Amino acid sequence: MKETVIVLDFGGQYNQLIARRVRENHVYCEILPYTVPIERIKALDPKGIIFTGGPNSVYDPASPHYTPEVFALGIPVLGICYGCQLMAHALGGRVISAADDSVSEYGKTDTAYQTSCTIFREIPANGVSWMSHRDYISEVPDGFSVTATTAHCPVAAMANEEKKLYGVQFHPEVNHTDHGSDMLRSFLFDVCGCKGEWQMDSFIDDTVAAIKAQVGDKGVVLGLSGGVDSSVAAALLSRAVSKQLTCVFVDQGLMRKDEGDYVENTFTKLFDMNFVRINCQEEFLSKLKGVSDPEEKRNIIGTEFYNVFWNRIRDSYGSGFFAQGTIYPDRIESGKGDAAKIKTHHNQVGVPKDIHFEGIIEPLKDLFKDEVRAVGEKLGLPHELVWRQPFPGPGLGVRVIGEITAERVHTLQEADAILRDEMEKCGYAEKMSQFFVVLPGVKTVGVMGDARTYDELVAIRAVTTDDFMTADWARIPYDILGRVSNRIINEVEHVNRVVYDITSKPPGTVEWE
Ligand code: XMP
Repeated sequence: MKETVIVLDFGGQYNQLIARRVRENHVYCEILPYTVPIERIKALDPKGIIFTGGPNSVYDPASPHYTPEVFALGIPVLGICYGCQLMAHALGGRVISAADDSVSEYGKTDTAYQTSCTIFREIPANGVSWMSHRDYISEVPDGFSVTATTAHCPVAAMANEEKKLYGVQFHPEVNHTDHGSDMLRSFLFDVCGCKGEWQMDSFIDDTVAAIKAQVGDKGVVLGLSGGVDSSVAAALLSRAVSKQLTCVFVDQGLMRKDEGDYVENTFTKLFDMNFVRINCQEEFLSKLKGVSDPEEKRNIIGTEFYNVFWNRIRDSYGSGFFAQGTIYPDRIESGKGDAAKIKTHHNQVGVPKDIHFEGIIEPLKDLFKDEVRAVGEKLGLPHELVWRQPFPGPGLGVRVIGEITAERVHTLQEADAILRDEMEKCGYAEKMSQFFVVLPGVKTVGVMGDARTYDELVAIRAVTTDDFMTADWARIPYDILGRVSNRIINEVEHVNRVVYDITSKPPGTVEWE
């Protein structure tokens, strides 16, 4: 059984970041909602537990709590922010509610640490920590000592070393806390006694062995979209069961220029696997004929994809195992509010009731995106496939504004290919989070070779972002934009004008539809 640390989710903003920080130390960790029964925690036999922050006050009747039994299991616990207050409150310390007296620390805060405390052993006695709280701890529980203070906060950290219980009011997981990673590392290795054996090499070996044992001599069918997750899942399954795997790739004709061929070549030549490509652009376009409402287009593309995919599976592969590229963030249960449900992500394709597989295999279900990429690199997938930009499920369908026709998709593909080519040539591609071309469906008047033109407008969209929830429009140098514009107008038929989208998100979105 691999060494595991549990991140108990009380609804904080940084919960996935805490889990990432733990995994960066090569310690496997799982995020569980605060509603998880303690028996499940005991069964996982974790090396340590981290209580996350959360937006509540411990005095709020609706606030999330956890049974104090957890502190008596002998398992080290680190409480962060709300998690620290919860620990203090549960064990008899005193938490002052913001309603009575608020210290309201937000942002970077000078903090003094007791470096004799195990989790502060590797850091200087003074530094900046990142605070975000209104309630505060005024008295620590019996057996605890104060291990950090700030000008306003009498208990910026506390510890009961004997029982291996630690709490920090600030957020060590965010970069703004000086030496936050060192604190977490000390907790993992010096307090919990972790060894740090979670490595992608061993992940590949273990997963391949597990898939082989599970599948035996049966078949496996995988829905391959050409995105990072399903591509890495395909490569991993191919290593495990070789020709017992069949990848089904639905090419609805709304991919970028040459992308369908690229995906097919990669998986048939590089991996020599059974690969079924369903070319169905005409079917998709006939369903989309005359439709220009964005939501209707999305619905048609989604439904048609589902039908095409399952009809093919039903006819030819409706037995054996079904595999998909679900990754960890797709299935994390949220601890927020009462709705502790698993989020259904677009790639968690529901299997129709009339198809009975032996089982579902999700080889990447425990990995974060960057871990998936590391596995992809180790399995020998091409760098550009592993590091590709996100691409919307409905493909270019949401970038051809208005009615989608084969001709307009072609125009968009050609213009987009020029943008990609120029961005790659000047080394700008890697600096962008995402860039592409949109066909807004507007015709404008121009003049070319002394003659009047009346042709399509093309818009260039490029953004930088960490999380795609917010995004800034990218400041691409004018000379690059100029070259792209020039080439698009000269090389792509039916285009006579190019504009650059300078809208951030919010108020815009990344895609236009
Ligand atoms: P928006 O337009 O919402 O896009 O700001 C944020 C990110 O999500 C991608 N996107 C999608 N991805 N299915 C997907 O898998 C979709 O329907 C979809 N719509 C937008 C978009 O490309 C951007 O990276």
